[in-house]
Amino acid sequence: MSKAIFSGIQPSGNLHIGNYIGAIKQWIDLQNSSKFKVQSSKLDENELIFCIVDLHAITVYQDPKVLKEKILETAALYLSCGIDPKIAKIFIQSENPDHTYLTWILDCVTPFGLLSRMTQFKDKSSTLLRRAAGIASSDARQGFEGRGKDENITVGLFNYPALMAADILLYDTDQVPVGEDQKQHIEFTRDIGEKFNKMYGQVFKLPEPLIQKETARIMSLQNPLSKMSKSDSNPLGAINLLDNNDLIVEKVKKAVTDSGLEIIAREDKPAMSNILTIFESVSGISVFELEQKYKNAKYSDFKNDLAEAVVEFLAPVQKKYTEIREDKNYLNMVLDEGRDYAVAKSSKKVQQVKEIMGLGR
Ligand code: TYM
Repeated sequence: MSKAIFSGIQPSGNLHIGNYIGAIKQWIDLQNSSKFKVQSSKLDENELIFCIVDLHAITVYQDPKVLKEKILETAALYLSCGIDPKIAKIFIQSENPDHTYLTWILDCVTPFGLLSRMTQFKDKSSTLLRRAAGIASSDARQGFEGRGKDENITVGLFNYPALMAADILLYDTDQVPVGEDQKQHIEFTRDIGEKFNKMYGQVFKLPEPLIQKETARIMSLQNPLSKMSKSDSNPLGAINLLDNNDLIVEKVKKAVTDSGLEIIAREDKPAMSNILTIFESVSGISVFELEQKYKNAKYSDFKNDLAEAVVEFLAPVQKKYTEIREDKNYLNMVLDEGRDYAVAKSSKKVQQVKEIMGLGR
């Protein structure tokens, strides 16, 4: 049976190895699975759509110049990590107005209480509050200095899951490959899609999350109990896909460790389990094999090898990235094609929604 697969990343900072391992790696595995290879000529049956979700990024303030750059950077990273635009479509969310249109419609069926229970909103808004408290007195560069403390917690941030539901529902998506942190948003998407279908009639397909258990949550190198994140205030917490070799080595060397020196993945060793998962993902050597290989090894030797494996893994990605960024026409062509494809599909869904709801003439 043919399947539609949709996913996206916010161009809100530097893409890191957690984004790669939790999301992009899955996308590439799906793309390279035989099913897609065999049927790659039938794009309209088996679809892979990957979005750069810039409208999500602006739910917190983004410097406009930086945002523009990050959008292109994200698109080029999709390609340089291995997304093949002959098989998959890549587009920029804000270039397809159907996303915001459907968001409003979904807002009108979304219970306020359901949105209030979203953990990402609770986490992000409390982080913003804490930052605002510190920033108000000391730092004027953030673009929101001088306003009340909760001024930064916008309706957009609150409403974020409805925009994400629109992204997914517009394309009759079957599966959404993401990391663990997005699971609740996909459940929300299903709830809202189902509610709409019950109120108006069968319009939306209900998507399933695709989450790889082992790699669904890569943790910060500085705190193995907190997720590796683009917005981490500690720059040593995340290895970014475009970090240079020296920085990668420094970040791996400074990664925090558990008590005891055993090189083993175990529940009571969250830091070691995390870096073993990263090692496995970049080297292709299983955690089990790594545990055997480094059974009696010195911790420093293990870290040196891990740093080398990350550097080796990222070198071709970074080389390809530079080539793609130098070829503006190519990147524009991919994004134009992706946008046209996305609009052609989503506009049909919007039409269907309008008709069933009695909107317009
Ligand atoms: P974002 O931009 O925060 O993250 C992009 C993808 O990377 C995954 N991820 C991780 N996986 C493992 N370990 C981590 N530490 C880690 N950090 C991030 C995320 O789970 C995600 O898959 N709301 C989404 C973007 C979005 C979207 C969509 C995704 C908007 N619309 C529609 C799928 C479908 C987000 O903020 O992802």
